[in-house]
Amino acid sequence: MCGIAGCSGGKRGIKSVMNILTRLEYRGYDSSGIAYVENNDLCVIKSLGNLQCLRREVSENTNVDTVIGHTRWATHGKPSIQNAHPHLDASGRLALVHNGIIENYQLLRSGLSKQGILCNTETDTEVIAKLIGAAIVEKEETGAIINAKTVLTVLAKQLGFMKGSYAIAFLFRPLPNYIFFAKNGSPLVVGQGQGATFLASDENAIKENCTGVLRLKDGDIGYINYENICIYDKKLNKKKVHLSKIDQDVEAFNLSGYSSFLNKEIAEGIGGALKTLRRAKKEIASTLPDNIFLTDFDLHITACGTALHAGRIAKYLIERELRIPVSIDFASEFKYKKPILSNKSICIFLSQSGETADTLGCVELAKSCGATTIGITNVKGSRIAEAVDYCLYTYAGVEISVASTKAYLAQLALIYALVFYLAGVKGKKLSFSLHDITYILHRLENRNYLSSLNKYLNLIKQQSSLYFVGRGIDYFVAMEGALKLKEICYIHCEAFAGGELKHGSLALINDSSVVVAILTQKSLIDKMLNNIHELNSRGAKVILLTPFTKLAPEVFGLIKLERCRDMVSPFCSIKPLQELTLYVAQKKGIDPDKPRNLAKSVTVE
Ligand code: AGP
Repeated sequence: MCGIAGCSGGKRGIKSVMNILTRLEYRGYDSSGIAYVENNDLCVIKSLGNLQCLRREVSENTNVDTVIGHTRWATHGKPSIQNAHPHLDASGRLALVHNGIIENYQLLRSGLSKQGILCNTETDTEVIAKLIGAAIVEKEETGAIINAKTVLTVLAKQLGFMKGSYAIAFLFRPLPNYIFFAKNGSPLVVGQGQGATFLASDENAIKENCTGVLRLKDGDIGYINYENICIYDKKLNKKKVHLSKIDQDVEAFNLSGYSSFLNKEIAEGIGGALKTLRRAKKEIASTLPDNIFLTDFDLHITACGTALHAGRIAKYLIERELRIPVSIDFASEFKYKKPILSNKSICIFLSQSGETADTLGCVELAKSCGATTIGITNVKGSRIAEAVDYCLYTYAGVEISVASTKAYLAQLALIYALVFYLAGVKGKKLSFSLHDITYILHRLENRNYLSSLNKYLNLIKQQSSLYFVGRGIDYFVAMEGALKLKEICYIHCEAFAGGELKHGSLALINDSSVVVAILTQKSLIDKMLNNIHELNSRGAKVILLTPFTKLAPEVFGLIKLERCRDMVSPFCSIKPLQELTLYVAQKKGIDPDKPRNLAKSVTVE
């Protein structure tokens, strides 16, 4: 993953790059660094830990105009100052940042060592810096004049030796106001500001400073300097630079009085779902071809993490309500299981970021099998949005916290809208209406569960393991609740389908177990209450989320959910689970926006 940043022009280059890195921190935050040339010296400052640590070491008001920066999510080599970017070439004149993976770095590294050029870190990135640096030295030795054009020639040639994905940016001390770049696989955006140019892994990070931005294409190489953005293809043919205007959503990056982005985004979830629902009906009809679901087709859903949990609800609804079989897979499994796909297949890919490498890989695979591909993503212009045949958008707004909350609700909204669309095409009647959804979303708009959850927070905080149980559609919400608590609160959580308990998992339950149970479906009340009895009998403390409180179930804790139609209940049951995660994280003193070892966009397989 990792985020890369660059700025050329203006007097406060360090400040600009630190601001860009702040917006890229969601991509990784185990270490960071910057590089710039000052008084003909190449200065590199690195720090272990999140950006706050780097901020303490740099002087943001230093008068330098051209700076590169990096925020890291370790792939090769543990988080350490040594492995942090920027990395240097052997001459100490070139500093480089990278996002991606160089798959043949071991081979390249041993080639370098045969030339007497040794790498000092465990990273794949250092190899890129060393290779380009060594090739420039070689050029110099032939007497060539080293200018931007020569550096680009060297860069193009050296990239030819690398296998894998990369977005790179580097400074070369003899050309101090140039930032050279190249892109293949990993995202990279350039932007034009007033008297300065910028580059970053994502446009949100620079758009505040820019009048226009351009997402680079794979194979692009080039440079930015004070005034210019120059882009070339692999063969060094100059490309025209068409910058596009950008929507500003500056508010998304402000906490606006909330204690964390997680807190803010949970609060924004219902609004995003309502907005998605409002736009979805029209957009689905205008995006998908009229006959797409009219001929014979087999339907597949692929995604990762939270997006997959939303996909599981899609499968449940489509099968139960429309009697259309759906296969669902983790993207990381789908790609390697030799899926049965043909030109009759319709594959739906869910991804908040639209950048997840596993999911993107599946899009490519599905297309190569002749399948029709539909993306559901929250980010316009993202790689998945561009790769699929048809893209449907959720309108959750920019999601910053690593844990996906508001995007999940927006994905649900889009899924329900798609189910309505499919029902229309197939002439089927559903057990719920769109009005049922908007009604319940409005009821949930100002609902907060802190007072109901408060008395259980200390108990949950102390757990090293926690179980979630549900049946039917509740099972999939239980999965999502478990994932949230796992990723943000570092508690081992597992979700069980209620009926499966006695087939093994019940063996884990004893009088110190805490189980969060969800019961929202009328038809499953008796069965689920039986499961709760089984848990009670083994001494578990069951905290039950249900609208059916009048049943007075014998449980340790009871959280009352809004009453709604059975098939619409995920909107109701996920809200308290998302809040539970936030409050437990707060109790544990964990930064809920940046859980350890994770990053928001998983752009490596
Ligand atoms: C959710 O809280 C996670 N951070 C993670 O599971 C995420 O949903 C997953 O990586 C998929 O991301 P995407 O939706 O951007 O593809």
